[in-house]
Amino acid sequence: MKKRNLVLLAIVAVLASCGGNGKQAKAPVSDIPAYLDYSRPIEERVEDALSRMTLEEKIAVLHAQSKFSSAGVPRLGIPEVWCTDGPHGIRPEVLWDEWEQAGWTNDSCTAFPALTCLAATWNRDMAHLFGKSIGEEARFRGKTVLLGPGVNINRTPLNGRNFEYMGEDPYLTSQIVVPYIKGVQEQGVAACVKHFALNNQEEWRHSVSVKLDDRALYEIYLPAFKAAIQEGNVWSIMPAYNRVDGEFCAHNDRLLKTILRDEFGFDGVAISDWGATEDTKGAVEGGLDLEYGTTSFGHEPGTNSMYDNYYLATPYYNLIKKGVYGTEELDYKVRNILRLIIRTGMSGNLNLGSLNSDEHILAARTINEEGMVLLKNNDALLPVNTDACKKVAIIGENAIKMMTVGGGSSSLKVKKEYTPMESITKELGSKVQLTYARGYVGSASNNYNGVSTGQSLEDDRDPEEILAEAVAAAKEADMVIFIGGLNKDPNQDAEGTDRLGIELPYGQDEVIYALADANPNIAVVMVNGSAVAMPWRDKVKSILLAWYGGSEAGNALAEVIAGKANPSGKLPYTMYARLEDCGAHSFGPETYPGVGQEVTYTEGIFVGYRWADKKNIEPLYPFGYGLSYTTFEYGDMKLSKSSMNENGTIKVTIPVTNTGKCAGKEVVELYISDTESSLERPEKELKGFEKIALEPGQTKNVEFTINADMLKFFDDAKHDWVAEKGEFTAIIGASSRDIKSTATFTLK
Ligand code: GLC
Repeated sequence: MKKRNLVLLAIVAVLASCGGNGKQAKAPVSDIPAYLDYSRPIEERVEDALSRMTLEEKIAVLHAQSKFSSAGVPRLGIPEVWCTDGPHGIRPEVLWDEWEQAGWTNDSCTAFPALTCLAATWNRDMAHLFGKSIGEEARFRGKTVLLGPGVNINRTPLNGRNFEYMGEDPYLTSQIVVPYIKGVQEQGVAACVKHFALNNQEEWRHSVSVKLDDRALYEIYLPAFKAAIQEGNVWSIMPAYNRVDGEFCAHNDRLLKTILRDEFGFDGVAISDWGATEDTKGAVEGGLDLEYGTTSFGHEPGTNSMYDNYYLATPYYNLIKKGVYGTEELDYKVRNILRLIIRTGMSGNLNLGSLNSDEHILAARTINEEGMVLLKNNDALLPVNTDACKKVAIIGENAIKMMTVGGGSSSLKVKKEYTPMESITKELGSKVQLTYARGYVGSASNNYNGVSTGQSLEDDRDPEEILAEAVAAAKEADMVIFIGGLNKDPNQDAEGTDRLGIELPYGQDEVIYALADANPNIAVVMVNGSAVAMPWRDKVKSILLAWYGGSEAGNALAEVIAGKANPSGKLPYTMYARLEDCGAHSFGPETYPGVGQEVTYTEGIFVGYRWADKKNIEPLYPFGYGLSYTTFEYGDMKLSKSSMNENGTIKVTIPVTNTGKCAGKEVVELYISDTESSLERPEKELKGFEKIALEPGQTKNVEFTINADMLKFFDDAKHDWVAEKGEFTAIIGASSRDIKSTATFTLK
């Protein structure tokens, strides 16, 4: 007899017992089913719901039913799961089983800055603000899971998706991803940290197999995922497309069970990347919970027959029926999915979210302003002195090009995107005479998945003519602001392809040289997500990284250029003078992009500044570097004591003073160096940072607490983190190369 009838029978029996002998049975404490009772512990609710589900219902929740949704249990009032991209904003609604847009008119979003910009803020509060804001937009749109944030380490500047991630350092990435996740999940929406793991290039992303040693795996590539789980309590995770040691991440027992569940204690849902599931056996036994985006097997997209053919659908059901599998793996997966649904849609969290609110617009602008990195500013050319400069030439395609459309799954449909030219005109147009010249023609593309920017950027004039126009404008101006960089086209900052080099595309270098010859008062603004070469660096007075700022990109840039906002970002990755200075590009094709679909991370733990330190390479601009419109002076650091034991701590304090004329924020960075260790370690490793706001003349004491965890390295032979006794050095820097103060101490 079906379970359901047994339940009905039981209910009838209880009712009958009430009426039968006249005595009233004691009414149960809570006569609603446990899984619906918000006051009960979540695991009790999960077990109760599981116990009520049929085999068919259990199979149904394991796989997609449309492009971005999977089933709940309608009979039990358990809601469906709705997923949405992406890390920078909530993508527009798509048709049931299409990537194409559904053409809604109420799903335009706020585009927040790219996550590399968020990392460049070095500000945990900005990360929480980001997560809260994007979580509210996801909640308002009725989404269960936000498919972000991405935390893959920037191992090579060529990775097409670097703009979606948080730079090269595991500690910085960990510190930024945790508040982001908390901000999202406080809205009742699950974050989905991705792409787990080692998705550090787009070249052959669906097939490449990564080989690396465990020290690099545990010290560089896993920490952000571990922090997302253990500190951020992330409710879902997305296994990546690629393979690790030959096995697809979506089926990788070591990744999804041993590391994720046994070592990190993850209790959320492993949601495949779209189309990352390769077969039923791998999905059932390898630790995947929820299958999305699998091919249509030749069935009409959107038809049930397509979804019934997913690896975790009918094929799995049949194997259970045949007795090949029991229901142990099935129940484990279903429990994880029920936990996700209860945490999001059945938690009593009544947040309704909001879309395009003034708060979100302000958040987008503030985060972008806080993330901008001032790399150079000779003669204080920036901010624009409207008394001295009465004529300013704005030159470059990225001054007029919208950047929120394109680049892959993070592409968005915004209510409004301010371009730099529009905002600079609004901000400065009444104070100075502004002229604009294209300078070069890069990409007129302005459409992605059916979302168009509405811009028409075609310009079929001769490049020489376009350049001559720009040079003439530069000659007549008191000051030039070149706004260029990359964009979201293939082989630039875009999913699915890597860049072909670190040089600026579209002949921008030549344009910058020509403009600098025409007018030495030139500031270069880079709109980009990944490091670029700057051979013209000594020919220009100012360089500002504006990143992809989202809806408020133009407004944030205009405020910084006009001096209403003081840039306080610092580089989340090393900018190399040449590609060969990067560890991943120092060996040969086997370390990038790989040979025979296999890429080996031979540089090991020496990624980014760790490599530059080891090889004594002078970066173009170092990790952690960024200037301000004001200046800061550091005093000497003091340690509370000169030694500590394993359970002890040492306090580090250092005074920092704003010695300039305007208010500003400074990121104070703490690195630790292990004087001698049984295994090779980087010269120094980032273990702390604080961002402080200082008025002119103000001094603040910045404090850090050193504990044994900060001294540990991963000993792959012991498969454990160890802090070896001996001497260490605490290093305070304004960047990884601008060392302000050091002090040694001993671990006893
Ligand atoms: C894409 C991306 C992933 C995205 C998913 C859904 O291929 O790899 O980041 O969330 O598919 O669009």
